[in-house]
Amino acid sequence: MSTTAIRIEDVNKIYKASDGREVQALTHIDLNVKKSEFISIIGPSGCGKSTLLRILANLDTPSSGSITWEKSADNIGFVFQDATLLPWKTVYQNAKFPLEVKKIETKENMENLDKLLELAGLKGFEKAYPRELSGGMRQRVAIVRALSYNPDVLLMDEPFGALDALTRDKMGIELLRIWTETKKTILFVTHSISEAAFLSDRVIVMSPRPGKIDEIIDINLPHPRTVEMKETIEFVNYVKKLREVLG
Ligand SMILES: Nc1ncnc2c1ncn2[C@@H]1O[C@H](COP(=O)(O)OP(=O)(O)OP(=O)(O)O)[C@@H](O)[C@H]1O
Ligand SMILES: [Mg+2]
Repeated sequence: MSTTAIRIEDVNKIYKASDGREVQALTHIDLNVKKSEFISIIGPSGCGKSTLLRILANLDTPSSGSITWEKSADNIGFVFQDATLLPWKTVYQNAKFPLEVKKIETKENMENLDKLLELAGLKGFEKAYPRELSGGMRQRVAIVRALSYNPDVLLMDEPFGALDALTRDKMGIELLRIWTETKKTILFVTHSISEAAFLSDRVIVMSPRPGKIDEIIDINLPHPRTVEMKETIEFVNYVKKLREVLG
């Protein structure tokens, strides 16, 4: 059941800044990500969360250490910290762009895309351009785009950062539903302690630069998670514990 999906071994990352200074962004990162696991990563700004996701997505290379994928590493969905939509394409064209590039515009995938747009509250905006959307709507298009081709692994860098509290809760529940249905492996960066506790199987707490893993907290709350759970003692205790570890 709990087979490893990604093995991260002693990963270090040193950036050379434009003024020649060296920035140690990640130190000795060791982590086994299990298949179908939901992991959140929290930690102060600049501790290397985005760097770690970028390295996993092969958009950057570690200075040392290794990443081993159980299956191929090419089936990754990435939701960036900024929505990064193509401004000359409409909502619909942006959302289906990966299907187009991968040449998998099958009937099933197109129907799934419609469903995702509906779930994300984007019905009626298919023909709008990114500049005509709010920041939260743009981010929702980016999430739909990442889910459009049904990747095994989803790397999400503060995907809900630009959303209002209510939409954020709704998207969280929706993401959990998709995760349960499709057994995806998810790595989710957030600044919200309560969001991390609510969504995850495990929460990785990182310390300030040079970014390393401070502690890993197992969240043993039952599934499916419901909004009401946020008022239970167990949940409140997890939030408290995470806040303590974060300092
Ligand atoms: N391309 C780069 N060149 C030089 N330094 C970089 C580069 N990218 C990131 N860094 C540095 O690496 C460190 C980690 O950055 P990273 O973006 O991973 O942090 P983060 O944890 O995602 O922060 P935030 O919560 O603000 O998004 C920072 O000190 C940053 O200045
Ligand atoms: Mg970041």
